[in-house]
Amino acid sequence: MSEPRILVVGSTMVDLIAYAKRLPEAGETIVGDRFQIGLGGKGANQAVMAARFGVPVAMVNAVGDDAYGTTHMQNFNDEGIDTTWMRTVQGSSGVAPIWVDASGMNRIITILGANDATDPAVAVQAVNEFHPTIVVAQLETPQATTVAAFRAAREKGITTLLNPAPARPIVPELLSLTDWLTPNESEFAALFGGEATGPGADERIRAAADANKVRLIVTLGVEGAALALPGEPVRHVAAPKVSVVDTTGAGDSFVGAFSVGLVRGLEPMRAAELACACASASVQKHGTQSSYLSREEAQALAAPYLKGA
Ligand code: RIB
Repeated sequence: MSEPRILVVGSTMVDLIAYAKRLPEAGETIVGDRFQIGLGGKGANQAVMAARFGVPVAMVNAVGDDAYGTTHMQNFNDEGIDTTWMRTVQGSSGVAPIWVDASGMNRIITILGANDATDPAVAVQAVNEFHPTIVVAQLETPQATTVAAFRAAREKGITTLLNPAPARPIVPELLSLTDWLTPNESEFAALFGGEATGPGADERIRAAADANKVRLIVTLGVEGAALALPGEPVRHVAAPKVSVVDTTGAGDSFVGAFSVGLVRGLEPMRAAELACACASASVQKHGTQSSYLSREEAQALAAPYLKGA
C-alpha cells in the first residue's frame, strides 16, 4: 500500500483574537483581557494539525500579496506542508476577527480575501500530482473549486471529506461528491434543520446521513461526537473532561486528526476517539494553531491508537 497522504483544499486566515469576560452588546464598548494574532483559517488549521501527526500533507489555497500571505507560506514550510499548489494573488489575504468569552466560546467573522481566488484547475492538478489518500475541504474557499477537486478525487477512488464550516448552503453536486461530512452542532442545524442533541437527535442524525448518502460525524463540543455510518446505529464518542479556555480551532484539530486516523487505517470510531482527544487538548490553550499539540505531542497521543493499525 502506498504511503497515506492528505490534500487540504482550504482557507488561510490571520486570526485577530480578542478575549473578554463577556462580549459587548450592540453599541457598547467594553475593556477586554487579552489580544492575540495568530495563524488560522479552517483549511490551514486542519492541514497543520494533520501534518503534526507526521502524515504528508499538501495545501491548495490562494494568499494575498501582502505580509500575511508571506507569513502563511513560511508557516506551511515550517510545518513541512507541501506548498506546490499554493498561489499568491493580488490583494489581501483572508482575516478573521474573533471574540472569545470567559467560557472559551468564540464568535468569528471571516473576511475571505484571497481565499476566494483558490483556483479549481490548480486543485485538480494537486489531486492528480500529489496522489492523496483523502481530500479535505471546508466552506471558506469557493465551492466550485472543491467540486472540481472532489470530482477528480472520485474519479480516482480517493476519499473526500467536507467540513461544512462556516455554515452556508452547499451546492448539491458538492454534497453528492462527499464521502464524509463533519458539521458541528450549529452547522448540522443550519444544514438539516434540527438539533443534533436532545430527544430524537440520533434519529435526525441517521436521517440526514441516509438522505444525503454520506458518512456523517457531528462534533458536539464537550459532548464529543456522534457518528452515523451506513447500516449502523448512531454511535457516540465521549470527549475527555478538560478545563476550556478557548474553543477556537478545536473543530479543525478534530478534522485534521480524524483524517489522519482514517488514512492510517483506523476504524472510524477509533479515528473519532483520537480526534476528540486532539480537540480536547486544543481547547485548553489560547489561540488557534498555537493551541495545537506539537509534533511530538501529537505523535505520542496517536501512538497507542496506531499500534497495529
Ligand atoms: O475554525 C476556526 C477558524 O475559523 C479560525 O482559525 C478562523 O480563521 C476561521 O477560519
